[in-house]
Amino acid sequence: MYLVISTSLREASLSRVLARKAVEELERLTDEVVFVDLKETSLPFCNAEDCYGHEAVLPIRDLIVRAKGILIAAPIYNYDVNAAAKNLIELTGQAWRDKVVGFLCAAGGHNSYMGVMGLANSLMLDFRCLVIPRFVYATNHAFEYGEETILADEKIQERIRELTFKLVKIGDVM
Ligand SMILES: Cc1cc2nc3c(=O)[nH]c(=O)nc-3n(C[C@H](O)[C@H](O)[C@H](O)COP(=O)(O)O)c2cc1C
Repeated sequence: MYLVISTSLREASLSRVLARKAVEELERLTDEVVFVDLKETSLPFCNAEDCYGHEAVLPIRDLIVRAKGILIAAPIYNYDVNAAAKNLIELTGQAWRDKVVGFLCAAGGHNSYMGVMGLANSLMLDFRCLVIPRFVYATNHAFEYGEETILADEKIQERIRELTFKLVKIGDVM
């Protein structure tokens, strides 16, 4: 099973649009795709005590353990992924061991394009994840706004296709 996790807590999130596009592309490649939207969950903050057994943590932890590959769609906040994304990793820690992981980011500008590196390094060094070196990074110019916001930029669409293709190619043999 391949898992796409959207970590933005914003109603009008653009990284969620990227996540949904990634789900669409993954569904062309495999029947087993699960989408999790952190906006629809009520995860506690990691307190390194009783949080690990929280009823909202256990199902998402189980999905991460079962996933052959995981895409994290995140907003860039303060030159990093948002706190909700990091909190998820803190809550689920070892569930990430040896996973193949890719990133899709929405940001306000181009300067934070290395914003995922802190989290990527932690996943690689703490949990031996294989991070796909093909990040999807989009600013608000990549989208068309209407009743429904859509991803309009063809280069970003192509990057999502490449990322999903690599995720499944690597995930299927790991
Ligand atoms: C608290 C906060 C911090 C932000 N920091 C950055 C930043 O460091 N670099 C950047 O390019 N954009 C930054 N942004 C802009 C967001 O990345 C942008 O609005 C993006 O669309 C958020 O993702 P979302 O639409 O999925 O929620 C910041 C936005 C907020 C609210």
